[in-house]
Amino acid sequence: MIQAAYLAPDGLEKPLAEELSRAGRAVDAWHGRLALSPDPPLPSAWALDVWTAPREIAVPSVKAAADALRDIQRNWSAYAVAHHRRMALIAERLPPVKARPLVFPEHPPSSHLGAWTLLAPDRMLASATKTSPFVNGECAFVEDHIGPPSRAYLKLWEALTRLGAWPGPGETCLDLGAAPGGWTFVLARLGARVAAVDKAPLDPRVAAMPGVTWREGSAFAIAPEPVDWLCSDVVAYPERLLALARRWIAAGSAGRIIFTVKFQGDTDHAAADAFAAIPDGHLTHLWHNKHELTFCWRRR
Ligand SMILES: C[S@@+](CC[C@H](N)C(=O)[O-])C[C@H]1O[C@@H](n2cnc3c(N)ncnc32)[C@H](O)[C@@H]1O
Repeated sequence: MIQAAYLAPDGLEKPLAEELSRAGRAVDAWHGRLALSPDPPLPSAWALDVWTAPREIAVPSVKAAADALRDIQRNWSAYAVAHHRRMALIAERLPPVKARPLVFPEHPPSSHLGAWTLLAPDRMLASATKTSPFVNGECAFVEDHIGPPSRAYLKLWEALTRLGAWPGPGETCLDLGAAPGGWTFVLARLGARVAAVDKAPLDPRVAAMPGVTWREGSAFAIAPEPVDWLCSDVVAYPERLLALARRWIAAGSAGRIIFTVKFQGDTDHAAADAFAAIPDGHLTHLWHNKHELTFCWRRR
């Protein structure tokens, strides 16, 4: 019996499998990027989405599959690995789910969404509940191809969207590892005052935005100072970043923290666990993350 299904980000099945194994969760089979577990669901940092109440349903026909889903609830998102034609025919019989790209800043969709797939032509896996409000955990945006100097801005857009909160006009932000300035661009565009810290300079267009200042130097050399939002996209060993987060949290100087935790080679699960264990913090893989996790924390 499948009790939980975890959707791995593209190409990141390994860290998800390792995380589940460390947590004592078995994986009986993979259906594409979906890890099928006989054990009860568990919060997962690496999963894009967790199907928390999966049921295997015999579906002798397309109509039977669509009827079974409609009998449970209105909104369903499909995860298609195989049997694409049959899945499309079933989806056609379901109410449409609008999965339009978001226009930042806006809140994530609030309507209840389940997930389903065909494990075999006559066997469906359907979960009325899942952890992500997005179809297959994909938080897509109408992109800004003109303003930001790097695509890293999409990570910050997603982190803020998933928090359902973003800096307001006049709030102070410290952006560590800011160059060339994608994150600084996002924060300044929201009207915040941003101190961008990097050894490298900002893109001149970002440096010239109102409220932006550049501080040349290392993120690790800055003593905690009062700031509403502390952000970091620095490339650093997770342990070093963990020490930085702990220092700022202990000082009580930052209202909120958003750090990208980057991994090179093998995933440092011990460091990830330590981040996840920080009270009032949350560690998650964003759809726009690569081999990285995003740590968010809020002062009580
Ligand atoms: C992935 S890039 C950041 C991209 C940026 N968030 C954006 O949106 O454009 C990482 C940056 O970290 C900077 N960096 C690396 N070590 C640093 C340190 N110790 N202190 C400050 N910046 C550092 C690098 O110079 C680089 O610009």
